[in-house]
Amino acid sequence: MTRLACFPLLLVAGLFAFAQPPKPAAPAPVAPDTAFKDEIAPLLKAHCVKCHSADTAKGDVRLDDLNPDVSKDAARWAAVRDQLRDGLMPPPKETRIADAKVRAAVAWITSKTGDPAPKLPNQGNLIPHELLFGKPAPAGDAPAGRVWRLSPDAYMGFTQSITRGKLGGLVQPFTLVPERGIKDFAGLYTIDEPSTEILIRNAEAIVEAQTGHTTTGGKIAGRNDSVREFIAIMDPNAEPTRSQLESAVRLQYKMALNRTPTDDDLKRYLGLYDRCAKAGDRPGAVKTMLQAVLLKTDAVFRSELGKGEGSRRMLAPDELALALSLALGDKRESGLATAAAKGELATKEQIAVHVRGVLDSTRESDRTRVLGFFREFFEYANAANVFKDKPKTFVHSPGQYVADTDRLVKHVLAADKDVLRELLTTDKSFVNYTTAKNKQKNIDEPKQAVILNPNNNKNQTGPESVYGIDKWVPEQPVAMPANTRLGVLMQPSWLVAWSTNFDNDPVRRGRWVRERLLGGTVPDLPIGVVAQVPDDPHRGFRDRLTVTRDAACWKCHQEMDELGLPFEQFDHYGRFRATETVLDPDATAKNIDKKGKSLGPVTREIPLSVAGVIASSGDAKLDGEAKNPREFVTKMANSERVRQVFVRHAFRYYLGRNETLADAKTLQDADRAYVASGGSFKALVVALLTSDSFLYRSAK
Ligand code: HEC
Ligand code: HEC
Repeated sequence: MTRLACFPLLLVAGLFAFAQPPKPAAPAPVAPDTAFKDEIAPLLKAHCVKCHSADTAKGDVRLDDLNPDVSKDAARWAAVRDQLRDGLMPPPKETRIADAKVRAAVAWITSKTGDPAPKLPNQGNLIPHELLFGKPAPAGDAPAGRVWRLSPDAYMGFTQSITRGKLGGLVQPFTLVPERGIKDFAGLYTIDEPSTEILIRNAEAIVEAQTGHTTTGGKIAGRNDSVREFIAIMDPNAEPTRSQLESAVRLQYKMALNRTPTDDDLKRYLGLYDRCAKAGDRPGAVKTMLQAVLLKTDAVFRSELGKGEGSRRMLAPDELALALSLALGDKRESGLATAAAKGELATKEQIAVHVRGVLDSTRESDRTRVLGFFREFFEYANAANVFKDKPKTFVHSPGQYVADTDRLVKHVLAADKDVLRELLTTDKSFVNYTTAKNKQKNIDEPKQAVILNPNNNKNQTGPESVYGIDKWVPEQPVAMPANTRLGVLMQPSWLVAWSTNFDNDPVRRGRWVRERLLGGTVPDLPIGVVAQVPDDPHRGFRDRLTVTRDAACWKCHQEMDELGLPFEQFDHYGRFRATETVLDPDATAKNIDKKGKSLGPVTREIPLSVAGVIASSGDAKLDGEAKNPREFVTKMANSERVRQVFVRHAFRYYLGRNETLADAKTLQDADRAYVASGGSFKALVVALLTSDSFLYRSAK
């Protein structure tokens, strides 16, 4: 076994050395201002001090003697901020503080503590929106350099490009941290011992395929997928020449890393070969040498440290080529690598041209990465993971709903106009739709995706009926029946993704709206709280959810429930309804045969309310009642705040981290670019990838 004989342990140790990204820089000191005296102190005095003075000190917290210099009293101020932000203090029975005042106070404290942004993707909204978009922002400090492990997709893209997609059975090596929100976060995956084990095994499998050959009569012949240059040096009886070994390493570099090795690198790899070959197994030594290239830190990590002197430095060309490649797709773009080598990624204008070029190209991989953002933002793809009973009268097909929504997103992206508004409010939908290649005409033709089987699907209608469409048509997208559903939040995929086995899930739907559209936060469900609606099948869901109106629950649930209730317009399979079906206990009791045996439950229809209240959204124009889900999403789609929160999420996806106060200018510029382009998502991506936040780093 080559690994045991002479495996380069040092290379593996290198993987661990980079496993933690560098720490962010300390916050800059801030000048004193009058906000404490004018706004903060009066607020504390009016709403907090009566319970938190020297005598009272509820919860062992005093707030009458807070140091106005926040940095000198950071822990207490942070506690005050969190309680205010999450609406936990003052306690529910006390006078509520006006939302605008709470937000201003939270923003002020945050601006003073200068917290580095919390690491996890679901904590992005902890930086108050007002601080990022409230007033025109000057350029901020560059973020600290970082070394970032590849995402699972990018790692698989890396192995795919080396093996030209022909080697199956490789697994992604990283330990995943299950988290809500944007998935590919610098802080989210770790490299631990099992990961290293898998990395090594993958490298072995790849090199095994690259060097696969047969020997007949002492003659060596490569297989279909093996690499000719490597086969040439696999003969156990022939000593490879120096130049053969060097060109093998060069080729492996090119295939795996899209760059050329330095003379030093070459020396190291050949040295490794020599050490291993001493043991007598020359082909084994070649393999080890080729594997070692695949285990280099930059095969698994992306370095974004920046090159040059000073506290503000641009990413080096090769770092930039990789960072842009992985922002746009799963593979190292050879076009970007070439541009980097030629010095063509030196200015923002040049970078913008290349980013545009990749976005405009029609390669599937590029589109997948953009689509990936919308999948992570809306999280509709989770529909397939929600178990439901098979309905008798129609086919429930969550996988197909997801495919339909994917297609709708791509359709909206193809027009690239007013993208967010379209996605929230389009009255069109793809419905049980796919395409098949017509080989004669060489075009993709529309096709019904799920086709009913007369034997298995007796008395059932197809997935199109879930959308409210009786007869499938090939011309798609089709308009949805009037006054029923608009946009992604009313696609069966999204509704099912945010439902439970037997019911709608207005709480989590509302949480989604609070976080993803309004940029708010909800404290996590405390352990020990019985989070259940009463199991009363004779009551409507809205009625059952009134358990959360208890003050102890409502302090959190006021942030969620009303934002999810408009979607009661649909049943938990995603079908439009005008009334709600509940159990009729009296009729059920009477539904018995002659012997008194039950003949099954009887249901009845009850009136349905589909209104919801938008409160403390941060956009005064948005607050108020919405009569139904269509009015609700239309209001959202017209809100400046909602648009900006969307930009914040795009930032997180494309930069792989939460925004900090120093990113305010980047966010505002990106928002402006989106608006000025008439809502072009491409323009938004170009703005993000040419921003200072993306391109610059500070020294540690
Ligand atoms: C009516 C009395 C009352 C008022 C008014 C009040 N608090 Fe409290 N506070 C409490 C009590 C009781 C506790 C301890 C039990 C708890 O956490 O609910 C507490 C706890 C806290 C804690 C500690 C929380 C923890 O998890 O350790 C902080 C911080 C706090 N309050 C801040 C505030 C702030 C800020 C205000 C004003 C905006 C405020 N309180 C207003 C009664 C009050
Ligand atoms: C500190 C905040 C907080 C408090 C207090 C709280 N909840 Fe929740 N609750 C949440 C959050 C957050 C969720 C959503 C959880 C998720 O996203 O998985 C939730 C979810 C729920 C759900 C939906 C769960 C499901 O599986 O469908 C119910 C029902 C619920 N809570 C009831 C209650 C009741 C009743 C109380 C009071 C006794 C209460 N909650 C108190 C934060 C809270």
